[in-house]
Amino acid sequence: MNRHQARNAGGRRWSSAPQGHKGRRWQRCASAAGLLLILLCLPAGCAREGGGWLGGWRHAPKGEVAAPSAELAARTLYLQTLDLSFCDQQWGSAQAGCSVEKNPLTLQGKVHEHGVGTHAYSALIVDLKGAAERFQAVVGVDDESADKGSVVFAVVVDGEEVVRTDVLRGGGEPQEINVDLAGARQLILTVEDGGDGIDHDHADWANARLVLVPGAVERPLATRLAAERMPLIASGTPRAPALHAPRVTGATPGRPFLFRIPATGEAPLRFEAANLPPDLTLDSDTGIITGTLAAEGTTAVPITVTSPCGTAGSTLTIVGGHRALAQTPPMGWNSWNVWGTAVDDAKVRAAADYMVSSGLASHGYQYINIDDAWEGQRDAEGRIQTNEKFPDMKALADYVHSKGLKLGIYSSPGPKTCADYEASYQHEQLDANTYAEWGIDLLKYDWCSYEKIAADHSLEELRKPYLVMREALDNCGRDIVYSLCQYGMGNVWEWGATVGGNYWRTTGDIWDSWSSMAGIGFGQNGHEVHAGPGHWNDPDMLVVGQVGWGPELHATRLTPDEQITHITLWSLLAAPLLIGCDLSQLDDFTLAVLTNTEVLEVNQDPLGKAAGRVAGNGRTEVWARPLADGALAVGLFNRGVQETTVTAEWEDLGIKGCQAVRDLWRRRDIGHYDNAYTAHVPPHGAMLLTLRAASTQPGSAETTTP
Ligand code: GAL
Repeated sequence: MNRHQARNAGGRRWSSAPQGHKGRRWQRCASAAGLLLILLCLPAGCAREGGGWLGGWRHAPKGEVAAPSAELAARTLYLQTLDLSFCDQQWGSAQAGCSVEKNPLTLQGKVHEHGVGTHAYSALIVDLKGAAERFQAVVGVDDESADKGSVVFAVVVDGEEVVRTDVLRGGGEPQEINVDLAGARQLILTVEDGGDGIDHDHADWANARLVLVPGAVERPLATRLAAERMPLIASGTPRAPALHAPRVTGATPGRPFLFRIPATGEAPLRFEAANLPPDLTLDSDTGIITGTLAAEGTTAVPITVTSPCGTAGSTLTIVGGHRALAQTPPMGWNSWNVWGTAVDDAKVRAAADYMVSSGLASHGYQYINIDDAWEGQRDAEGRIQTNEKFPDMKALADYVHSKGLKLGIYSSPGPKTCADYEASYQHEQLDANTYAEWGIDLLKYDWCSYEKIAADHSLEELRKPYLVMREALDNCGRDIVYSLCQYGMGNVWEWGATVGGNYWRTTGDIWDSWSSMAGIGFGQNGHEVHAGPGHWNDPDMLVVGQVGWGPELHATRLTPDEQITHITLWSLLAAPLLIGCDLSQLDDFTLAVLTNTEVLEVNQDPLGKAAGRVAGNGRTEVWARPLADGALAVGLFNRGVQETTVTAEWEDLGIKGCQAVRDLWRRRDIGHYDNAYTAHVPPHGAMLLTLRAASTQPGSAETTTP
């Protein structure tokens, strides 16, 4: 028995008294104003007759709202008054004073004025500041789930689980929770599904409250996972020369070709290429290939890079063909998550400068994408102009190209963009031609005000504007990667490729929070079958580094482990890697997270097969994708708030026999394993591995560990 259990009176950590009678649901969920009223009035005078809770609450029949004495009321902090945006939840969002579907909190017909409505899985972390002596609640599946839903509530105090309920079912008896918190620093409240999936798992922490210690100065706060833990990952770039992904690129014959060979090593580097298609030229000092492909077809181009420390070789595959772009998921930078509408010419030039000087370009990041807010008005001929923040778009494109990088731009098929700037409706061909004249290499085409034009959300209406711009791009004389953005409507992953999209947003906008990133990332399961060379699922841009949607920036609110999960997932998903932070403020950790060559090789794998979930067990998940060289990339994820073990079973992965396991984030071999590999994974953390049939690794000296 741990110290918290020991303190809980009578050896009973929680009780399971019946919670009142079935009754009519008469009360809508409290409005903000109503809630305020309740909060103001309750401690003062809304106490009902009776009493009840152990340790100071006035007696009330079981299941009735217990009324605190005035002194206790003053020390009562209802859970719903904490910032519930910190609650990590798999479906919906945590609700103050009502159920997850915003109905009155109701358990077995009894309506509770206070509490938090959540949905499995959920976790709320409370930094107690040593200021609480007790946590109390009545928990169960809200009546809005009728007789469906099954959940388990758990309470963790300072890392120790002190309460775990039975599986509670819809319509079943709620249970009381009463936990001693004296001296405790952290409280974690979790709801897990009851073993049958999360459907209908509407879970109520009814009447949930903290009793503060007398005279408490500080107040408990909801919080995210502590960010102190720094994952051990490899960083730095070896002095020896090395060539990196992408190792395949494509272009249309007759259109301008540009590719910067990603390579690292001690300067100066010198590049050589054999078998380069005619009309392409390699600058041996910069590694930038320019020119025009003369013909369709695939060419294997052996590349070498030499530095004072040696020589490295690799093969670049050049694919010439109609719409042969985005052979691997585009890697680059986009202005939106950092600058929002505050983007301007200087910031874009700076992004290009830092892309090169930080080493990101040497690791394969190529695109510099201007998102919304570059647009001006149309001239008398209807030609789109830039606004005053972008004095000369052609000069900007030339500047970006001079570094071997590519320039992206943004528009909407509607009359206005999402930020209310001029967009492309009924000017599609003129716009595509203008982009081509400027030297644009990528277009993000964002639904926005087309919502007013579309008759409905039928497949035909959803596809229509994207086909119009597709045709315009085909006719504009320049290769322009086509990025569809319409937030996943109509299951865009099922048809994005049929309208000629090179990648398509599968979700709404990402934010730098665990719930947003993890909700989007883990929600991609099943979409993998629709991704492949030239057409990718896009779960939105990265939220590492200094982000902010401009002009004010802040460090990402993802913990370091959550950032590892983010990039691990995006790599397994074969998602575009579009950095959304200020490249002039890259700290060592962010740079290491963005430039791990082995992780990027998974993202850029030429086979182009994206990962799906192969196993899930509560809050742990295993995802995997096959790689071109026969290995398997495997992600081990812990979505929970406590460290746990995650096991990759060969059976789930469809493999057999002895496998050499390598840890890509640490860039080191772990050993050889038969049947399964198990690792400890930190809260909200991940591991990215490759598994390789041992016989394909003759040189490995690793020993087998059980
Ligand atoms: C949103 C889009 C964002 C960003 C923004 C610009 O619709 O999802 O990624 O492009 O518009 O206004």
